[in-house]
Amino acid sequence: MKVLVTGGAGFIGSNLVRRLLDHGDEVVVLDEFSTGFRANLDGLDLHLVEGSILDDGALGLAVKGADSIVHLAALGSIPRSIANPVAAHEVNATGTLRVLEAARKTGAHVTVASSSSVYGSVPDLPRVETLATRPMSPYGASKLAAEGYTLAYGKSYDLETLPLRLFNVYGQRQVAGHAYAAVIPVFIDAALRGIPLPLQGDGRQSRDFTFVDTVTWVLAHAAHYRITSDVPVNVAMGANISLLELIAELEPLVGHSLEIEERPERVGDVQASCAELQRFRRLFPSAPTVTFTEGIAATVEWTQSTWIDHPSW
Ligand SMILES: NC(=O)c1ccc[n+]([C@@H]2O[C@H](COP(=O)([O-])OP(=O)(O)OC[C@H]3O[C@@H](n4cnc5c(N)ncnc54)[C@H](O)[C@@H]3O)[C@@H](O)[C@H]2O)c1
Repeated sequence: MKVLVTGGAGFIGSNLVRRLLDHGDEVVVLDEFSTGFRANLDGLDLHLVEGSILDDGALGLAVKGADSIVHLAALGSIPRSIANPVAAHEVNATGTLRVLEAARKTGAHVTVASSSSVYGSVPDLPRVETLATRPMSPYGASKLAAEGYTLAYGKSYDLETLPLRLFNVYGQRQVAGHAYAAVIPVFIDAALRGIPLPLQGDGRQSRDFTFVDTVTWVLAHAAHYRITSDVPVNVAMGANISLLELIAELEPLVGHSLEIEERPERVGDVQASCAELQRFRRLFPSAPTVTFTEGIAATVEWTQSTWIDHPSW
């Protein structure tokens, strides 16, 4: 089948396109390389449309003939959205609206990557999809808008849509070395360089870290079987791992004890985030489980094998 991956040059997208190509799919990537890397697509037999989801010309070209769209293009990162909320809204909310509109014209199935950040300051754990949403950052608000449009297009136009709330994804091709990098690549990079790990807050904040191979399995499965849902669905492991536990996992993998550089807590960050997975398990009963220990070991191994040769990331 023909699958369009918006944001296919990014972390999750570049893992997904490899899985789709291995499956024998025809793959189109629409990406403007704002946070993704051309090098992530090197040597892959796919059709690349270089441009923005906000550009109707590029989007129209990319969506042509696609049976399914996996919409990942976005400006990620909570601090980035706090620094530039309008850009976050334009790409994440308006951009999603544009992608849905393109799908409405062609009838393609659409999977949309929303985020656990839509729960925001709601204190309840685990995060079940029926909870209220109280975003704490423009990023969370923009993802909530994207998710809302996805649900609305499903109802208003009978479009086959699937809004997925991804929880902290990590794994190969997620890189450190830029201002808005995620905590796992930042810690691995610092650990391998032998410099202190920049810890924001007391380290007790916890996340439902989810290995990227599980996420790409879900996204590919959703595209192949045109999975739909008229309610949002969490995608996570149901784990509750603190940053101190992450550091403890890393120490034996890098073979030395790790020093910490304490930094203030970040604005917009929640203290804990852990998913309830009933809907997820009902829709994706055979999704592969990767334990945190296995996933972190694979991620450290990938980083060790590539980090010296990284391009300028
Ligand atoms: N990584 C996570 O932990 C996580 C968690 C929850 C949700 N998500 C969502 O999953 C999706 C993928 O995340 P990621 O971690 O791979 O991020 P990423 O930044 O690595 O990838 C996003 C890709 O989108 C592209 N892009 C940005 N603006 C664009 C535009 N206007 N037009 C075309 N392409 C554009 C970027 O160049 C990049 O290649 C995003 O929607 C993100 O919000 C990610």
